[in-house]
Amino acid sequence: MSHKSPKDFFAPLAVGAPAPLREIPARPSRAIHFFDPSNPKMAAKVPAMVGTVDVLLGNLEDAVKADNKVAAREGLVKIASETDFGPTQLWTRINSLDSPWVLDDLITLVTEIGDKLDVVMVPKVQGPEDIHYVDRLLAQLEAKGGVQRPILIHAILETARGVANVEEIALASPRMQGISLGPADLAADRKMKTTRVGGGHPGYLVRQDPVDGDIHGNRTVFQQDLWHYTIAKMVDACAEAGIYPYYGPFGDITDVVAAEDQFRNAFLLGCVGTWSLHPKQIEIANRVFSPSVEDIKHARRVVKAMGDGTGAVMLDGKMEDDASLKQCLVLVDLAEELAAIDPKLKELYDAIEIED
Ligand code: GLV
Ligand code: MG
Repeated sequence: MSHKSPKDFFAPLAVGAPAPLREIPARPSRAIHFFDPSNPKMAAKVPAMVGTVDVLLGNLEDAVKADNKVAAREGLVKIASETDFGPTQLWTRINSLDSPWVLDDLITLVTEIGDKLDVVMVPKVQGPEDIHYVDRLLAQLEAKGGVQRPILIHAILETARGVANVEEIALASPRMQGISLGPADLAADRKMKTTRVGGGHPGYLVRQDPVDGDIHGNRTVFQQDLWHYTIAKMVDACAEAGIYPYYGPFGDITDVVAAEDQFRNAFLLGCVGTWSLHPKQIEIANRVFSPSVEDIKHARRVVKAMGDGTGAVMLDGKMEDDASLKQCLVLVDLAEELAAIDPKLKELYDAIEIED
């Protein structure tokens, strides 16, 4: 095995590129709203969405027709140059590394709008070698374009090999910002027998035992979550690396109820956000990925009751200790980060009164 000094992980990969970050800032990213920059109608709506969503993402990959790849890239350069994004982050999803478009995507975007671009989402990541490739290219292009701060990398988990390598992917570079589940490509790559973009499937279930041996009798069925294993694995890999996990696309735009369920499962398991494919999904994501008033009320009550944070107390018949306090602090810290950019949430959280 060849060794690399720990110090060298934080040296730029090209002369003149900005130094890598030592920590990924916790910037709210509850909804990553996808738009197609080659679609003039969609592109025209982007400036008005600034401030209404945490992340706007110009998509160049799947869902953009091959004939429109150049128009999408150029459209994104135009939108980014003409728009002041204020508190909203600007991300892009580049074409996959085995496509003929990705090199021009990176060269054009980094040299022309590199200072506006926060994160580059890389699809179909297979292993750490894919991250290393983009890492070095970004450094070279940042140096060429005079970009002042490092552009971060977000990987989509959408190949079987990528899932097998998720820990190495998460740890592949100080640029790694986070990972999203890509349920549509992942299902195809694994040869799952579904035909949907995210969400559950009525055939994936367990059934209550027969009553009195009557196997054809009335037996409750419980639908299971197809994505539980992958999301849990992704959350652990991200937590280990100090980066952020996300749900991905939920394709049934009309089923806002099931979308909310999937997003909430992901939130409870540790994800910080999800993709939005339609403005309807932004509202759901903003609500689901913000701690509820009830949770913050309880969390603050535990923080107060636990004093210096050690020992145990009883609240409403339940034991609270150092570890339950730490869980509460996750929610309290998240609420503070979100309140800093979301005045409506701030008002809600500020109005909470704690009982003893
Ligand atoms: C997203 O890109 C997916 O394939 O689900
Ligand atoms: Mg995909």
